Amino acid sequence: MKRIGILTGGGDAPGLNACIKAAVYKATFENIEVFGIYDGWHGLLDDHYDLSERLTMQGVRTWDRDGGTHIGSSRTNPFSVKREGQKIDRSDEVLKNIEKLGLDALIAIGGEDTLGVANKLYSLGVNVVGVPKTIDKDLSETDYTIGFDTALRNCTEQIERSRTPAGSHSWIQIVEVMGRHSGHLALWSGVAGGAYIILIPEYPFSYKKIYELLDERLSPHGRRRVHPKYAIIVVAEGAIPEGGDLTTLDKSHDAFGHVKLGGIGDEISHRIRKETDYDSRSVALGHPQRGGSPTPRDRIIALKFGNAAVEACIRKRFGMMVSAKGEGEMAKIHLVKISDAVAKIDCVDVKRYYDTTRYNILRKVLLDE
Ligand code: F6P
Repeated sequence: MKRIGILTGGGDAPGLNACIKAAVYKATFENIEVFGIYDGWHGLLDDHYDLSERLTMQGVRTWDRDGGTHIGSSRTNPFSVKREGQKIDRSDEVLKNIEKLGLDALIAIGGEDTLGVANKLYSLGVNVVGVPKTIDKDLSETDYTIGFDTALRNCTEQIERSRTPAGSHSWIQIVEVMGRHSGHLALWSGVAGGAYIILIPEYPFSYKKIYELLDERLSPHGRRRVHPKYAIIVVAEGAIPEGGDLTTLDKSHDAFGHVKLGGIGDEISHRIRKETDYDSRSVALGHPQRGGSPTPRDRIIALKFGNAAVEACIRKRFGMMVSAKGEGEMAKIHLVKISDAVAKIDCVDVKRYYDTTRYNILRKVLLDE
């Protein structure tokens, strides 16, 4: 093993740079070169691969504290690239350019889409190892994905900040968070931020039920100020009303066929103002959820994943993804098949965690035995 390529694909997530740094350090100690491939899978297409360059320990020394990804990212799917309105398979360019760059192995850091491509390339003979990253934490076969903890911190902070205006003005504050079709980010940031109601994609919600819950909190105590006059509702962008559909920003699809989710928070706020006597405001937290410096937990897991990915390359365990059992400093790192990790998305276990009568965390104590 002489040279490993590394790329980051899909939405950026804090901790990517820490993972790259760890991989570069580990590889350098093993006398292996690491090449940074710029902008995800786009970086291996004919018009981009020549930008790839060697990453050195000196060059990446300070990267661990930075959010985003210093080698760029994209949602490029080399098996389906748009050109003049047509979708073309350009995976042959990827195979050829891996050869040209002299890469003996490739580390792909990404979520279900990036790793889905990695898995297809593996079946075409590419020596690829995957690293799980996504603020959605929706990959199977791993307890952790890089970026989740920082996004959780970011969302929790914003929920906290929205509490004082809502409390002062006595309104229902809707906070829309990302997460695509899984509710991990909404549920746990809602719990951490003390939201009264949390709506997740895994359980369709009823407007009637929301209004009943609001009445229960806000009505019985009359005007005495000692009782709450506001409520915070955290809603996942992928939450769906009973009998309804996903709320999308527009009709477009990305290269992997995903719609652009967004707008359910505004819709709920609008319905509350129209159909009840409560006032309401909504905020969609948007891309800053993925921003900022990674938390200690993300830095630690990124370090472990980066080291393990290089080790997996050295041991020629291709077609595998590094995976965490447990979180943070306690996590044990294993290898699982990339194909298993992308076979289905990981969602909130409703039975275990979600109170479907109160739209919040299940409060009964669980004993894990
Ligand atoms: O997968 C990460 C994520 O932030 C999702 O939570 C969200 O739906 C999506 O990416 C947003 O896509 P984009 O970054 O292309 O706007």
